[in-house]
Amino acid sequence: MLRHLRAIEDCTREELDGFIERALELKKEHKAGVRHSQLVGKTIGLIFEKPSTRTRVSFESAMYGLGGQVIFLSGRDTQLARSEPLKDMARVMARYVDGMVVRTFGQEVVEELARYSSVPVINALTDLHHPCQIMSDLMTVIEKKGPLENLKIAWVGDGNNVANSWIQAAEILGFELILACPEGYDPNPEILKKGRSNGAKPIVLVRSPEQAVAEADVINVDVWTSMGQEGEEDRRLAVFRGFQMNDALLAHAPDAAIVMHCLPAHRGEEITEEVLESERCVAFDQAENKMHMHKAILEKLIGG
Ligand code: CP
Ligand code: NVA
Repeated sequence: MLRHLRAIEDCTREELDGFIERALELKKEHKAGVRHSQLVGKTIGLIFEKPSTRTRVSFESAMYGLGGQVIFLSGRDTQLARSEPLKDMARVMARYVDGMVVRTFGQEVVEELARYSSVPVINALTDLHHPCQIMSDLMTVIEKKGPLENLKIAWVGDGNNVANSWIQAAEILGFELILACPEGYDPNPEILKKGRSNGAKPIVLVRSPEQAVAEADVINVDVWTSMGQEGEEDRRLAVFRGFQMNDALLAHAPDAAIVMHCLPAHRGEEITEEVLESERCVAFDQAENKMHMHKAILEKLIGG
């Protein structure tokens, strides 16, 4: 049974399908004005050591929407900032809250908290993974394009945390994934190797963005410089120049292909204003779906 959500690979295929189905149902209910109370009396702690707009607000509104409560702690608010051991933090927090949602740098922080916590720990982004993002993005893909197993999904840009989580999703759910990353900016090699050996459909790494989008139903882009990499920005701007999602690149994709961006976007870098604001880009629907998916995640992990 799923206890923690540290990465997509914590979930079985059935669990991922279940989350998506439930999130779609919760979205319908939200639009119909249905009120929920399944998490009344429950509290989660949000521990965020990196900035966030979407993930923080959507987790908070999801928890309140299910009748629960939230305590938000930024990195500097806790004794973690003064090097209190994670194993102590985990055991203390678990005595106060019913779950922890954590955004941090190292994946090992989430792993260590989960190891010592008697309540669920949910990864809200690390340098290595962004599982909740991909779970709501899968929901958006299904809404826009239908069943995943018939689709070709492309990734253009940095082989970062979001790319790693897409690879794990492709491995578990069995859809085709083609990633175009510049040399030296590949996804995590172990995640890629495991995804390729276990996935039912090909997971391919190429160097050409045009090749990646050529037959894609869905094209994903993300920032070139992730949180924590600010010192590398100038070098990254130069390396990724040919990987911009613009009209010229989109012209190589099928007419029906949609563009996804988990946001925040840097217009003029990884995506142009024209593409981001075009009908083909579903970034704001992705942002909306985060709240519904987070409700589904909280309901299952915190509600039991
Ligand atoms: N997509 C996403 O995680 O956005 P935030 O950094 O604003 O939470
Ligand atoms: N790859 C980006 C995602 C932001 C939601 C980062 O880690 O900053």
